[in-house]
Amino acid sequence: MLADQDRVFTNLYGEHDWRLAGARKRGVWSGVKELIHKGRDWIVNEVKESGLRGRGGAGFPTGLKWSFMPKQSDRPCYLVVNADESEPGTCKDRDILRFDPHRLLEGCLLAGAGMAVNATYIYIRGEFYKEAQHLQAAIDEAYAAGLLGKNACGSGYDMELYLHRGAGAYICGEETALLESLEGRKGMPRLKPPFPAQVGLYGCPSTVNNVETIATAGEILRRGASWFAGIGRPRNTGTKIFCISGHVEQPCNVEEAMSIPMRELIERHAGGVRGGWDNLLGVIPGGSSTPVLPKSVCDDVLMDFDSLVAQKSGLGTAALIVMDKSTDIVRAIARLSAFYKHESCGQCTPCREGLGWVWRVMERMVAGNASVEEIDTLLEVSYEIEGHTICALADGAAWPVQGLIRHFRPEMIRRIEQYRAAAPRQAAE
Ligand SMILES: Cc1cc2nc3c(=O)[nH]c(=O)nc-3n(C[C@H](O)[C@H](O)[C@H](O)COP(=O)(O)O)c2cc1C
Repeated sequence: MLADQDRVFTNLYGEHDWRLAGARKRGVWSGVKELIHKGRDWIVNEVKESGLRGRGGAGFPTGLKWSFMPKQSDRPCYLVVNADESEPGTCKDRDILRFDPHRLLEGCLLAGAGMAVNATYIYIRGEFYKEAQHLQAAIDEAYAAGLLGKNACGSGYDMELYLHRGAGAYICGEETALLESLEGRKGMPRLKPPFPAQVGLYGCPSTVNNVETIATAGEILRRGASWFAGIGRPRNTGTKIFCISGHVEQPCNVEEAMSIPMRELIERHAGGVRGGWDNLLGVIPGGSSTPVLPKSVCDDVLMDFDSLVAQKSGLGTAALIVMDKSTDIVRAIARLSAFYKHESCGQCTPCREGLGWVWRVMERMVAGNASVEEIDTLLEVSYEIEGHTICALADGAAWPVQGLIRHFRPEMIRRIEQYRAAAPRQAAE
């Protein structure tokens, strides 16, 4: 269990003042000038050694990503913060934005200094209206106090910061679609390479990071890499905000140590599964894109990148969607298929055409109006979609279906048989 003194997000529940005065009392912005003076290489190395991996879903090592930015550049360089948070089940960045906005701004300045960026853009989900208001108020306070802009924090480093509101599209959370949208175009992912560190925002070197990733950076630099690396386990270090929703007694966001057992996380913080642990059917562990795990796996799995990959799922955004035995699991996954079909930008054929096909078959699977052989066809098509598109939206649509078939095939067959058995009677009526 995470000790109180190891908590990064000390205002996750909004119990304290989120404005500058309150943030300062909680230690935010302290010693930032001195940290910047330690230099660019020190900042990047410290984050590398902390083991921090991106909190936006893919878990890419943050320090390594920062090190891809050019040492010398004749063009401006940018940090772009991804505050689009649209993955179903995920609501962690929202609480950072509304209750701890200065922690994010502090992280922007330090990360910015580490990569020598000229400006930071925060791209916030359009529906986060109140969050954007808090964030803008915090930005205004920080400018007025000399913490951002020219000679930020008296460090000699200049960094401007702009807030940009999105218009509510899941695809705009994908980093290159986000860049397109920020530039004023339709949010459609770009082919990579070139990667944003070479050709990013306005064609200039850029790094895109998640809100939680950046908001954690300040505390890592203040307390040191070894503090963060000492929490969790190798390759899966630090603290992490988990979002627990679904059939639990008390849905919540909670910051915990990485690698906490899933069962302990749910029972300690969310009041346990409705009706008790034995009433658990399965858990989607990392936001809607990650494959569902049945109870037998949930019994002992650890909540981290490596353990969940070993179970053919993923930590993703660390948003657990808990489902008890009352859940119609085929319908639940079919609902996700409808979401992904709706959110496809339509650029790549396997995604544009495939996700509609998957959704239609899934709807028939819900009714049982399918043949048993079609379960394998569905699986094969999901493999044809996965990895064959510009961005990972289609992968995120294929994985839940694959998880369903991997763990709940008997339930799918049962429905088909039930439908078949009733069919002659239905025809006669
Ligand atoms: C369809 C799609 C939606 C995404 N949505 C988000 C999002 O809302 N927020 C986010 O931080 N990352 C999102 N990502 C991941 C980003 O592309 C990117 O990997 C991330 O912002 C990098 O930050 P990190 O290294 O700090 O994790 C999404 C990816 C895909 C494919």
